[in-house]
Amino acid sequence: MKPNFARFAHSAWVAVLFLLHVTRGLEVRAGNSCTVAPLGPGQDDTDQVLAAISQCGTNGTITFEEGSFNITRRMIWDLNNAKVDLHGFMNFVPDVEFWLNKSNTYQVVFIQSQSSWFVVTGSDFEIDAHNTGGIQGNGQIWWNFFSNLTKDDGDGRPISLTVYRATRGIIRNFLIDSQPFWCNCVAESRDVIYDGMLCNATNTNPEFAGTNLVPNTDGIDTYRSDNISLLNWDITCGDDCLAIKGNTTNLLVRNVTCNGGNGIAFGSLGQYFNLTDIVENVFMEDLRMIRLPTSVQPDMETGVYFKSWTGEVVGVPPVGGGGGPPNALKPHPTLTFGGLHFEDWTGNSTGSTIVSFACSPAVNCTDITFDSFDVTPPANDAPSFICRNVTSVVGLQAPCNATW
Ligand SMILES: *[C@@H]1O[C@H](CO)[C@@H](O)[C@H](O)[C@H]1NC(C)=O
Ligand SMILES: *[C@@H]1O[C@H](CO)[C@@H](O)[C@H](O)[C@H]1NC(C)=O
Ligand SMILES: *[C@@H]1O[C@H](CO)[C@@H](O)[C@H](O)[C@H]1NC(C)=O
Ligand SMILES: *[C@@H]1O[C@H](CO)[C@@H](O)[C@H](O)[C@H]1NC(C)=O
Ligand SMILES: *[C@@H]1O[C@H](CO)[C@@H](O)[C@H](O)[C@H]1NC(C)=O
Ligand SMILES: *[C@@H]1O[C@H](CO)[C@@H](O)[C@H](O)[C@H]1NC(C)=O
Ligand SMILES: *[C@@H]1O[C@H](CO)[C@@H](O)[C@H](O)[C@H]1NC(C)=O
Ligand SMILES: *[C@@H]1O[C@H](CO)[C@@H](O)[C@H](O)[C@H]1NC(C)=O
Ligand SMILES: *[C@@H]1O[C@H](CO)[C@@H](O)[C@H](O)[C@H]1NC(C)=O
Ligand SMILES: *[C@@H]1O[C@H](CO)[C@@H](O)[C@H](O)[C@H]1NC(C)=O
Ligand SMILES: *[C@@H]1O[C@H](CO)[C@@H](O)[C@H](O)[C@H]1NC(C)=O
Ligand SMILES: *[C@@H]1O[C@H](CO)[C@@H](O)[C@H](O)[C@H]1NC(C)=O
Repeated sequence: MKPNFARFAHSAWVAVLFLLHVTRGLEVRAGNSCTVAPLGPGQDDTDQVLAAISQCGTNGTITFEEGSFNITRRMIWDLNNAKVDLHGFMNFVPDVEFWLNKSNTYQVVFIQSQSSWFVVTGSDFEIDAHNTGGIQGNGQIWWNFFSNLTKDDGDGRPISLTVYRATRGIIRNFLIDSQPFWCNCVAESRDVIYDGMLCNATNTNPEFAGTNLVPNTDGIDTYRSDNISLLNWDITCGDDCLAIKGNTTNLLVRNVTCNGGNGIAFGSLGQYFNLTDIVENVFMEDLRMIRLPTSVQPDMETGVYFKSWTGEVVGVPPVGGGGGPPNALKPHPTLTFGGLHFEDWTGNSTGSTIVSFACSPAVNCTDITFDSFDVTPPANDAPSFICRNVTSVVGLQAPCNATW
């Protein structure tokens, strides 16, 4: 998709009118294009950033120059037939108490009532951050702040980049430094391509070296979205690298490196007793799951995992839930995982359990195949393959027995 700007060239007097309203630092040129440079230390860039989006975010182009844009309040970028060149960073002011007040963020992500400080919406747009720009999350301040506090879903910690109700959008070569919480979320969107994404939640506080100070820093959560592509991602996090949540369909994932964290998660599905969660036609290839040195972070006990809530309602979302969809065999859920095909896997596991499935006896897991699956346990350990309530599994080098 390349927006066609030629058709929307504005006449010179329009540009002059824009200049009358421009905020300091924002330059508007003919042809509906805006250029914005950071105002500099101690200054607030939020007004001029939002002014550029409002003036050039439809049928236009916006260039954010290199450097740091000081963002002090929540933002929605509504982009339609627009191109954004983001050479610098949107630097979200690290005022934890301010952002935790939910009236200072958006609650557009329905699942777990998560909060967002930066929402991109619209259609036919491209945001290219040229591998020099993106979002500065100032996460270290957040991780320190929460080090001795309970961390709950929906507690107000903001998602760094939320793509919401977007159609035919491209996010390219985008850097997100130290996300406080989920790095990305795409919700209620379709036909979106992320090509080039770096998320880096790395603790540098020596007090917490060797522990996972960065829980909930998921690379992305996908929800209620169709035809999304995640290409060329590099994620360092302390939680799900990718979390494929309910009603994600036709998802393509290619060339993703997950450093630390919990690997790739499907779910958790079934948190809302009144909603069915469908995940269908997910294709992933060229994945690398890499443990970090334990001096940095101890996590990554799984490469890929599938999780669902139980069939019983225990508490309410965002923290509790379960029971979805209703069924007569509580506490076993009727959520079923099937059609799971693993091809060309190589590598080493830290323990002897290579594969473990514990499925709901109400429905079982079905049709699981392995092809060229060569993951080995530590030397002298016999590999163990566990299958509980699985109807069909083939291709492992030993029987998948129901033992723990
Ligand atoms: C960001 O803007 C706020 C409000 O004007 C100001 O207090 C703060 O110093 C600025 N931060 C930076 C890094 O410039
Ligand atoms: C943008 O372009 C579309 C398609 O030509 C047109 O209908 C719309 O009025 C334009 N909007 C603005 C704000 O220029
Ligand atoms: C949250 O912010 C709103 C709007 O500024 C304010 O009215 C409210 O008192 C704040 N709540 C808390 C708990 O600080
Ligand atoms: C949490 O840590 C902060 C900073 O280290 C400290 O000021 C605060 O008292 C601690 N809170 C609790 C509940 O331990
Ligand atoms: C999926 O999205 C891409 C990118 O917007 C688009 O080119 C493609 O046509 C879409 N596929 C379908 C089946 O809609
Ligand atoms: C991630 O962040 C850490 C800590 O700031 C830094 O040392 C490292 O170089 C970063 N990695 C990448 C790939 O940017
Ligand atoms: C895979 O993605 C990384 C960025 O995470 C990129 O540097 C590399 O060139 C990509 N590899 C291929 C084969 O495209
Ligand atoms: C499902 O339940 C949630 C509350 O848990 C509610 O917000 C939502 O509107 C309900 N959805 C439907 C379709 O009933
Ligand atoms: C998922 O899609 C199905 C079918 O359209 C719908 O019934 C269900 O409510 C959706 N679930 C969520 C979580 O949106
Ligand atoms: C797995 O371990 C073996 C033996 O220690 C080593 O040679 C190999 O490089 C490791 N493979 C990976 C993918 O780390
Ligand atoms: C199926 O699951 C039930 C409930 O968790 C368990 O009691 C049973 O042993 C499982 N069946 C097999 C063959 O593992
Ligand atoms: C589920 O799988 C188990 C084997 O683990 C089998 O004994 C049982 O009959 C299956 N149940 C259903 C409902 O297919």
